[in-house]
Amino acid sequence: MTRMTTALAVLICVALPLPAAAWGSIGHQVTALIAYDHLTPAARKQVDTLLTADPDTLTPPDFASRSVWADKYRNSHRQTAAWHFADNEIDKPDLDAACFGLPRLSPGQLASQGPAKDCVVNKIEQFRAELADPHTAQTERLLALKFLIHFVGDLHQPLHAADHNDKGGNCVRVEAAGGHRAPNLHAYWDGSVLEPLGASPAAIAAQLDANITPAKVAAWSAGNVRAWAMESFELAKSVTYDLPSKPTCDEYGSVTLSAVYRQRAETVAGEQLEKAGLRLAAMLNGALAR
Ligand code: ADE
Ligand code: ZN
Ligand code: ZN
Repeated sequence: MTRMTTALAVLICVALPLPAAAWGSIGHQVTALIAYDHLTPAARKQVDTLLTADPDTLTPPDFASRSVWADKYRNSHRQTAAWHFADNEIDKPDLDAACFGLPRLSPGQLASQGPAKDCVVNKIEQFRAELADPHTAQTERLLALKFLIHFVGDLHQPLHAADHNDKGGNCVRVEAAGGHRAPNLHAYWDGSVLEPLGASPAAIAAQLDANITPAKVAAWSAGNVRAWAMESFELAKSVTYDLPSKPTCDEYGSVTLSAVYRQRAETVAGEQLEKAGLRLAAMLNGALAR
């Protein structure tokens, strides 16, 4: 490339809007920002101390930036790919099957070194236990914290807790109507659905956080990881997959998301982010109470 075309390419890359980011970028950052706001001073201090000591350069070191660390880590550690979801089939729900029988770690085995065939529910439990255990090595506690910041977010994306033989909506193309740019149903729920909620992750988080009442905190901080997964699954069944047709990977068909569908999706996605933030905070507050 000549210097001119290089400059032009750079300019185009900077000027064009990025492809719809995953619950990846917007959703995970919003979750983290809400969670950080709800940490106790003791938990926040420990989280900050842990993250400040982390030499990892996959993302910037702050809490919100670390919320996307696990997606970057997956690129070089493919054995962690299935840990991001639980393919609970909407036509034949079986969370244990979706979680490969919830494999147990062998004595002394670190959660970060666990089997590839595991799911987001089991990994959250394993990493929570490691973070809460003062005997866990610091390097592993750091990994546990970074995985948790991300996985509690993933769990609340309905298509990370449900499936219809479509790779959690990855095989369902969506028509480019209604102003979103998602190529498929999964991408829509990972990111595009959140774009109307605010101009930036900070703006969305502030808006959602302002909606959080003490009653919501009480109601949503209860339960356990399994119950949260089933709640996310039920929303997938009743809202995410409330479509005129449900093509599987065999068909690779497309659907149109109506205005009514998208409005409902935005409401549900916003509420899921509030829950994810509060539950991540509750989990870290519990694990780091000392
Ligand atoms: N790949 C297969 N199933 C998936 C899901 N539910 N979420 C994300 N990626 C997947
Ligand atoms: Zn993920
Ligand atoms: Zn996703």
